[in-house]
Amino acid sequence: MDHFRYRAGRLHAEDVAVDRIAREVGTPCYIYSTATLERHFRVFADAVAGLDALVCFAVKANGNLAVIRTLASLGAGADVVSGGEMRRALAAGVPASRIVFSGVGKTRAEIAAALKAGVHQINVESEPELDRVAEVAAGMGRTAEIAFRVNPDVDARTHAKITTGKRENKFGIEMGRIRQVVSGAARKPGVKVVGLALHIGSQLVDLAPFREAFEKTRTLFEGLRRDGHPLTRFDVGGGLGIPYGDHETPLPAEYGKVVRETLGGLGCQIILEPGRVIVGNAGILVSEVLYVKEGATRNFLIVDAAMNDLIRPALYDAAHTIVPVNEPAELAPRAPVDVVGPICETGDTFAVQRPLPPLAAGDLVAFRSVGAYGAAMSSMYNARALAPEVLVHGREFAVVRERITVDDMMSRETVPPWLEVPA
Ligand code: LLP
Repeated sequence: MDHFRYRAGRLHAEDVAVDRIAREVGTPCYIYSTATLERHFRVFADAVAGLDALVCFAVKANGNLAVIRTLASLGAGADVVSGGEMRRALAAGVPASRIVFSGVGKTRAEIAAALKAGVHQINVESEPELDRVAEVAAGMGRTAEIAFRVNPDVDARTHAKITTGKRENKFGIEMGRIRQVVSGAARKPGVKVVGLALHIGSQLVDLAPFREAFEKTRTLFEGLRRDGHPLTRFDVGGGLGIPYGDHETPLPAEYGKVVRETLGGLGCQIILEPGRVIVGNAGILVSEVLYVKEGATRNFLIVDAAMNDLIRPALYDAAHTIVPVNEPAELAPRAPVDVVGPICETGDTFAVQRPLPPLAAGDLVAFRSVGAYGAAMSSMYNARALAPEVLVHGREFAVVRERITVDDMMSRETVPPWLEVPA
């Protein structure tokens, strides 16, 4: 459930009319709803209530400081995959003791920064990375609490680009090697093995792969304990999908049941790293229709948002629901159009032959479910500004990231001396 609804014919984010924000801030702009963020976090946390659970929001889904802070104030920890994300989480008020540092290629500087900050756990993804973490920690006179990320070789049955738990993927350590790696690590100064971690992919719409991966990893976890390793943490990663259109997805409560059934009896801390399910439906991207173009075979709606603002359709064939900001009449005819941005690539297409009510230049549309991996994946391609982000809270709203302009971008560039025009 989210808090974007039509009221008196105008789309609202909670109690604020979306067209009012668009007028004040300009388009394209991202708008997030606090009530939706809060609701989604609570529903997820409730789904694992009763377990010794630490819910670490995956900052990669949405790194905005105000978004992270909203979640941190509800008790969320953070899952981070770079030094930059760790700085964001800390700056937003997430205690280091609730931060898990994941990621397949941590640099020496990132490992040192994580140890200095005192993060809860570093998830190690390979043997050379183990050596690196141990060396950095020992050099600092510290002991890093680490979990090994296991590759359970389970097909998440999601888009190939966001599948991470198959043997051929770059993530984690093969199950068959873990025993040996853990015994080696147990003898190393600088590290203490506290648990296992996994993450099999993103936007999973079926619970069966989660169950399979959790069960396989639990068997390994119990075996390691029998070997004498006192493991106390089990990190299940993230990945629960959300409905982008009409299709059904499992509820957090059903996911929680799988976690409980497979891992409930382990007597250890369960770390969860949800991203999309917390923020996905809490954000919209508002864009203005620039032109309605009658093409040779179809009509195009050319909008002022583009693939640099929202790359998911181009990269993952994602189909985000698009709604007019002014509520269309119930009986208004729907006609198929291609919704496209102004960037010079055919891939800059948000929807193909999407049935939409009549729209004209100057009308506003909203892309739904873009709170996760929307602004976070935006770029300045085609020298386009980065869209501003707005957070709504009841009747109030605030710009929580200003538009990052072309001047901002150019201010970091210089012309070398040999190209300077002589005075
Ligand atoms: N933990 C780890 C180790 C991850 O790699 C990820 C996501 C998560 C947690 C959070 O997964 P979530 O709950 O959000 O599914 N850009 C893609 C999604 C990439 C996900 C990468 N890893 C998209 O827009 O669909």
